[in-house]
Amino acid sequence: SLPVPNVQQLASSSEGVPVRYIRPELELERVSNDEYDRIPLIDMSKLNDVRDDEAAKLHSACKDWGFFQVINHGVAEEVILKMKADIQGFFSQPLEEKMKYAQLPNGIEGYGQAFVVSEEQKLDWGDMLYINAQPINRRNMRLWPSSLRASLDQYSIELEKVAQSLMISMAKNLGVEPEKLLDLFKEGVQTVRMNYYPPCEQASKVIGIAPHSDGSGLTLLNQVNEVQGLQIKKDGKWVPVDPIPGAFIVNVGDIIEIMSNGVYKSIEHRALVNHKKERLSIAAFHDPNVDAMIGPLPNLHTLDQEKQAPNYKSISHQDFKKLGRKMKLDGKNKGL
Ligand code: SIN
Ligand code: FE2
Repeated sequence: SLPVPNVQQLASSSEGVPVRYIRPELELERVSNDEYDRIPLIDMSKLNDVRDDEAAKLHSACKDWGFFQVINHGVAEEVILKMKADIQGFFSQPLEEKMKYAQLPNGIEGYGQAFVVSEEQKLDWGDMLYINAQPINRRNMRLWPSSLRASLDQYSIELEKVAQSLMISMAKNLGVEPEKLLDLFKEGVQTVRMNYYPPCEQASKVIGIAPHSDGSGLTLLNQVNEVQGLQIKKDGKWVPVDPIPGAFIVNVGDIIEIMSNGVYKSIEHRALVNHKKERLSIAAFHDPNVDAMIGPLPNLHTLDQEKQAPNYKSISHQDFKKLGRKMKLDGKNKGL
């Protein structure tokens, strides 16, 4: 990997936006600006109540959208507020303070930027703090800023619970025994990516995170300071996701798409930046444990006549990390 400049520092210089950040393709893209559908909103307190159709709503959210927001998720407000305050505090420190937690050469973990592999590659307008949070034996405390150790630990534990509870409902909706899915995520790998997007004078020409689908199982996202920026690809158009205070945005990652044999969709999305305001977000990625096999869940592909054959290979978690989306049998790539 090659060195990438610090964006917060770039943004505060008077040099203008370097050409490596400018994305001419953005001008041509279709964004639903005036009227757009909101991603589904799921009330998690109703998921187990048979009188409500919330579970059915969750099923269609996973199938038709791949994205939804959750309220009544059970995470105490103070845990979220503390996490938000501490990450804002971290990014607002002088560079030399943050650099104490800088990524090590060739490592993604710590404070820094996403990798690039060539000098020509376009760059994202954002810095990040990327942390291995679970299981605990994957933690590298050297890279955990002391000011947010306690809040991040709590946040990590609480979000793990939300992810598991959603997976129980998703498994039931797929006609799979919840334990079959939960076992794969027991001692699961959780990583937390905290993003800081400085304001940009040429905001409409740069991108905070380029279009991608998540390689995770389930991602839980918090738009920390409620500045809009996340957009998802829906029916060929980019649809913004409105921040809802206190809610989490949840998306199906590639692994759950695979486990559901393609019934659930891992959707392409991106993050834009703001002209005047900084934007912060926290993405928590929930992956299976390191020993899990990744493939369509047993019994699942017999559920649906059309989906009788597995659409994806089963491979080890390690191989999945190496191969990523290339493993798809039918070559259905996600147009990155
Ligand atoms: C992402 O994690 O892909 C988007 C994060 C964000 O909304 O900032
Ligand atoms: Fe993402």
